[in-house]
Amino acid sequence: MAVAATTQPPNSKHNIEAMREAFYARIATKDMAPLWKVMRSVVTKEPVTRTKPHVWHYDDVKSLVMESGSLISAEEAKRRVLILENPALRGQSRATNTLFAGVQMILPGEVAPAHRHAAAAIRFVLDGEGAYTAVEGEKAFMAPGDFVITANWAPHDHGNPSNKPMLWLDVLDFPVVNFYETSFAEHFDDATQETTRQDGDSLSFYGSGVLPDGTPTTNRSPVINYTYARTRPIIERMMQSGDVDKRHGARVRYANPVTGGPVLPTMGAYLAMLPKGFKGEPYRATDGTVFVCVEGKGTTNVDGNVLEWGKNDVFVVPPWKRYSHNAPEQSVLFSISDRPAQEALGIWRESN
Ligand SMILES: [Fe+2]
Repeated sequence: MAVAATTQPPNSKHNIEAMREAFYARIATKDMAPLWKVMRSVVTKEPVTRTKPHVWHYDDVKSLVMESGSLISAEEAKRRVLILENPALRGQSRATNTLFAGVQMILPGEVAPAHRHAAAAIRFVLDGEGAYTAVEGEKAFMAPGDFVITANWAPHDHGNPSNKPMLWLDVLDFPVVNFYETSFAEHFDDATQETTRQDGDSLSFYGSGVLPDGTPTTNRSPVINYTYARTRPIIERMMQSGDVDKRHGARVRYANPVTGGPVLPTMGAYLAMLPKGFKGEPYRATDGTVFVCVEGKGTTNVDGNVLEWGKNDVFVVPPWKRYSHNAPEQSVLFSISDRPAQEALGIWRESN
């Protein structure tokens, strides 16, 4: 005999919904919630990003940063930096979900006083010559295209004894540090730190295929400044020898010379030369990436959005968005992302 449909009251669906809602309300008073209601949004099938593809053109950035020079001194500002805020993350001081990016300027004669913090930083020099970053006792004089690292808790200060303003891109991992709620910072009484090593000591000690005997293995590179003068000829030579990746061009990874690993545990960087007429194949990866055009001009198609870039423009490709580079003329791109952190956690993925 068939089970009569009448064994269930006609309004059972309504009843169970009402019972569930009452249950959710009751557990909410005990600071609990049902996972099954949010499962699809907290464990997504594919990466979901709030970051938008975006380009900051250097013409705009430079004139506004220069204007800020008449409004506040580097000493008063501590760091005179205009933040490059992703349009989808306004008010959050970040270019991607995990990376801060900003353009800093030091005018002739200025000093940005010594401090240190748990967040790690890199500088990528855009304009000027002869300003320095002093890191852990080494005063690194910088030129356009130089890549300077300041590992977490490393004391650092900047100064510009030259007669030209210097501008550089700062990228920091503090959104990650703040995600873990692990920020510390300290300012020193003296604006500048004592230097005990000469400019270029660290590159010469550690960046030449030999290491001072007894160099400890650490998860951050001992090299302070990876100069453009040394790195550019390498990618040019790779390009000339045909070592050109179909997606990335002739690309090198900035490496910790002691371990071969990334320069910092949280951030990794690359320099790539795109041959004239390069039409890159599509690529995507889970690390949201900040690019700088160092030379040339071109476009990057990000998921249907075409970003046009020229010298010193900064642009962002969000995580897991398919992108491809096009370069009508020979171009050089610097890029930086949180890939090392993702790899350390085992969550980094790439695909075409
Ligand atoms: Fe700093």
